[in-house]
Order: sequence, then structure tokens, then C-alpha cells
Amino acid sequence: MKSIVIVISGRGSNMRAIVEAELPVRVAAVISNDPAAAGLQYARDKGIFTQTVNHREFASRDAFDQALAAAIDAHASDLVVLAGFMRILTDGFVQRYDGRMLNIHPSLLPSFTGLHTHRRALELGVKIHGCTVHFVTPRLDHGPIVIQAAVPVLAGDTEESLAARVLREEHRIYPQAVRWFAEGRLALHNGIVRVTGEDAAQSAFPDR
Ligand code: GRF
Repeated sequence: MKSIVIVISGRGSNMRAIVEAELPVRVAAVISNDPAAAGLQYARDKGIFTQTVNHREFASRDAFDQALAAAIDAHASDLVVLAGFMRILTDGFVQRYDGRMLNIHPSLLPSFTGLHTHRRALELGVKIHGCTVHFVTPRLDHGPIVIQAAVPVLAGDTEESLAARVLREEHRIYPQAVRWFAEGRLALHNGIVRVTGEDAAQSAFPDR
């Protein structure tokens, strides 16, 4: 069975969705850059090994990334799952986990890379919004796309209501992406992800 390390910064609801999906993976550890991350307590309660690598204790981004990599590598896991991890990673760190590190981003990439995606979607009046699971590459929020889910933007939506609608989909597609990885069904060809097998065409639209 493959093993994963989940890296969080806060609430950890995506981590929780992955743990609760009972995937064919062993969650070797949950690591946070913030000792106050609420998700750590959930992981502890589940008996999962937790660790904090506090970014505030490091003089440089490089030093932090090296400590984080050491913490991750101690588990010799197959996949690193960034789940609401809010630090920008150095190129060296990203390259170390080439093809074995996933991230979830709350927009339909390549639209709305970066922060405040829901606010910006509302400001621009887009009618469809969503979320993306992608492999992490050095260019922020630009890695090969594994799965996306779309939601409508409704009249009267606020940043909060739109975020909640997107988050429900995050909790659906992130476990799916991790499952595909665990089952060895993700292949990368020239920066494009191909999913093999029956449910490979799993739609971006929840009801299909
Ligand atoms: C999610 O919306 C994720 O897409 C974004 O930050 C949020 C983290 O939520 N990067 P959680 O910590 O998984 O609850």
C-alpha cells in the first residue's frame, strides 16, 4: 500500500476529507508549518503521527524548506499532499518531489492563480468557478491538472457562500485524485496528466 504525507497550514478540512475517504493509502504523517493549525488536533485524535515545522523559527525560506523536506522524507512516503498549505515553496523543494506532490487550488486553473480566488471571481463576474487538483511544479499554481470541479456562481453569492460551494467540491475531488495516484493510474506525458481506467472520465460536474 502506498503511503502519503499530508502538509497543512490551518483548518485541514481537505486533509480530513482524504482521511475519511478510507483510501487505499497509509497516512504516514500530517505536518504543519503552524503549531496552531486546527487540523493537527483532528489528525492526533485519529492516531496519525503529527509534526510541526514552524516557519517562524527559520531565518530563510531555504532553511525552512530543508527542514520540511527532512520531516517529510523521514516517512519515505510515495506522495506529498499539500492541503491548504499556505507557504510558497522554493524550486529546489518542488523539484525534489517532482511527479509526487499534489496541491488543491480553489479556482478553475489557469484562471485565478494566487490568493483571494473567490473574491476575484465575484469581482470579475464569472459565471462558473471551481477547484483544481494539480501536480506541483515550480511555477505557482501552474502544474499538470489531475481533476477539476465546477460550480455555478449564483446571484447574491458572497465570498463565503461561493467558498463553501467550492469547498464541498474540493472535498470530493481531492480524495479522488489521491485514490488515482494510489492506484497507479496517473501518468504524466509532456506536462499533461492522463488518467487510466474506468472512471477516468469522471466529470467535473458532480451530478454526471
Ligand atoms: C482550501 O480552500 C484550499 O483550496 C485552499 O485553502 C483552503 C484550505 O482549507 N488552498 P482546509 O485547510 O483544507 O480546510
